[in-house]
Amino acid sequence: MSKTIIISNRLPLQINIENDNLEVTPSVGGLATGLKSFHKEGDSIWIGWSGMPEEEIPEHLIEDVKIKAREEDCVAVNLTNDEIDGFYYGFSNRTVWPLFHYFMEYTESDDWYWETYKRVNQKYAEEVLKHYEEGDHIWVHDYQLLLVPNMIREHAPEAIIGFFNHIPFPSYEVFRTLPWREEVLEGVLGADLIGFHTYDYERHFLSSVSRILRHQVDFNEITLPDRIVKVDSFPMGIDYDKFEKAALNHFENTAEDKSELQRRLDHHLKATPDAKLILSLDRLDYTKGIANRLRAFEFFLDKYPEFIEKVRLVMLAVPSRSNVPQYQRLKREIDELVGRINGKFSTVSWTPIWYFYRSMPFENLIDLYTSCDIALLTPIRDGMNLVAKEYVATRTDHTGVLILSEMAGAAHEMNEAILINPNNFDQMAKALKQAFEMPREEQIERNKMLQKRLKRYSVEKWAQDFMKALRNTEDNRQAFEAS
Ligand code: ADP
Ligand code: G6P
Repeated sequence: MSKTIIISNRLPLQINIENDNLEVTPSVGGLATGLKSFHKEGDSIWIGWSGMPEEEIPEHLIEDVKIKAREEDCVAVNLTNDEIDGFYYGFSNRTVWPLFHYFMEYTESDDWYWETYKRVNQKYAEEVLKHYEEGDHIWVHDYQLLLVPNMIREHAPEAIIGFFNHIPFPSYEVFRTLPWREEVLEGVLGADLIGFHTYDYERHFLSSVSRILRHQVDFNEITLPDRIVKVDSFPMGIDYDKFEKAALNHFENTAEDKSELQRRLDHHLKATPDAKLILSLDRLDYTKGIANRLRAFEFFLDKYPEFIEKVRLVMLAVPSRSNVPQYQRLKREIDELVGRINGKFSTVSWTPIWYFYRSMPFENLIDLYTSCDIALLTPIRDGMNLVAKEYVATRTDHTGVLILSEMAGAAHEMNEAILINPNNFDQMAKALKQAFEMPREEQIERNKMLQKRLKRYSVEKWAQDFMKALRNTEDNRQAFEAS
């Protein structure tokens, strides 16, 4: 029977070694949390990195790592420290990530990063080929593996390969600055179907293919000498039922079941019943606009001092890619901003910002989603932003206001949110005031419309649509060969 082979840089599980024992935690990030549900349901294996450098896995635990991964239908690819430096911290996160998010000033062009990226992409492709059997569907994910589709195709010309990009694809004018632009496009074009979150990213990609490689592009089809490649947009959804169920269960918790965090949140609500909680939740990443968000919050308190002691920003920043200098600088900037704002506005009984710099278990995410009256998500650029969708899905009484950056892919499907430009502090301050004062009926009306859409376009539907379109490419191929 044919199976689906999923390949992404990171597996949905992160394996660590604590006191000579293997410890498994879930990976953070939209790709892992979203795809996990699809992987659990179907007949698929998932190939990716365990998150640990090969050198840190003791000889006697190598087999255990493989077993742990296999228990979850995963295959762990080992990366050496050198590979992690050049491929992951280097080309993936100092070249492609900033460039594709329009942070051109952060983009580095380094031959060694590029060479390592190629080598590691080859390693992933070889691992796929070890597991591939004719008839299988191969689904490659994200910007770390742009060359993998063509590397697989070279050895398995008949393979059915899909590629999905979870981050934005930049406009041609930005993409063309990449020194290896031809190789990158040719790498992705090894796939039969290429998917993006939004129509804009799809158009940007097609424009680059037509202008850089000069291939014929008709609407959303690219004609290569031997094949047709289809390009389309598939906005990724969330596992709606999982979030709704988790929120419903959360409200059934007895006092003893409650987490420490929930107790603190309850205490806040009891002590200041007319005060509101604003949620800020992301990986600590410069694309997420966290520093702008803090400045906008400060601007809001300056402009509307009547909200002093009436709001609190609960900010969770999950550590991410901390070897990259921009992430280190951002961490310092955020620490300073939080310190300054708390110093400036705190009263004896109130601090405006609660700041957590750590990862939290799923239960705590649900505590935050269900307890916060407003979610303030202000990325400068974001491929999708699943946090926005998760927040809406957990609001089982339909209250709560989402303030969302128009620069997030999710904004295209979430018109009932208050959409803002993350560079406009005044607009963000006004949005906060509007959210604070929004009548309950209006909150419910907006939330219901958002939930309806999220329920319909769940992650399951997303994966089904992609796989269906991938299977359809087989028919296209037969038609092309016959012509
Ligand atoms: P990105 O993929 O850029 O990190 P998204 O908003 O699309 O941004 O996805 C983030 C995902 O990571 C969400 O599914 C969210 O639930 C998950 N997540 C965020 N913070 C945590 C955390 N502290 N612990 C576990 N998962 C988290
Ligand atoms: C985004 C990317 C994913 C990545 C995740 C977490 O969602 O699209 O590919 O896995 O961020 O980043 P990390 O570098 O920790 O894998």
